Amino acid sequence: MQITIQRTHEMVNYEIPFESTTLLKALYHIKNNEDNSLTFSSSCRSSVCGTCAVRVNGKEVLACSHTLQEGDLIEPLKYHEVQRDLKVNKQKVRETLRTSTAWLQQTQETSISEQQVALTEKQSDCILCDSCYSACPVLEVNPNFIGPFALTRAYRYTADPREGNIQATIDNIQTNGVWDCTLCGECTAVCPQGIDPKMDITMLRGTSAQFGYSDPNFQAMDFGGFGGF
Ligand code: SF4
Ligand code: SF4
Ligand code: FES
Repeated sequence: MQITIQRTHEMVNYEIPFESTTLLKALYHIKNNEDNSLTFSSSCRSSVCGTCAVRVNGKEVLACSHTLQEGDLIEPLKYHEVQRDLKVNKQKVRETLRTSTAWLQQTQETSISEQQVALTEKQSDCILCDSCYSACPVLEVNPNFIGPFALTRAYRYTADPREGNIQATIDNIQTNGVWDCTLCGECTAVCPQGIDPKMDITMLRGTSAQFGYSDPNFQAMDFGGFGGF
């Protein structure tokens, strides 16, 4: 089958001599047999480490779990600095975890039930593949948006019974945070771990409201009474 890869300076077509293969195996085939300058990232090769995320036909996938199809177009993740070919720099995007202060602010001793653990178990499965970040249309217009995975992690800690200062995190995700999300659900659609950042952001909005925050876009609307017509 033939596939196309967006390399640093050009699109290149490659013939893959397998009927069925994962994208990652095909990338290694090209590198080992046709062009050893092809550059991409991988580690675990089993959908665990999140290293190999790329876009196929415009949709984010893990290369090690995507079954290649005839004519697939392979591109690097969006909103990341491309270092070479499909390899991107994830360091700057990782800074969003710092911006959202997605950790326990003030640990308090408490007992935790199995049900409470289950509430944030899914969010804890994030493998930081950045697929959700690449899929988010808000980053197209606002590069400072904290983005889905950092907000999901912020939710994970605000929902943790051991957190003694929920407000500290909530305060830190108001600017370029929960209210900038359009709730489009693109992040949820691409997550290989079945995490639902859109729902987590909705939950964070609810918690924000409990601390007196509201949607600044809604506040900015000028309803102006009927005299405005
Ligand atoms: S739901 Fe929000 S965070 Fe997720 S992709 Fe859409 S705008 Fe981005
Ligand atoms: S939330 Fe899902 S898509 Fe986003 S970084 Fe984590 S594992 Fe990847
Ligand atoms: S190589 Fe680890 S998730 Fe694909």
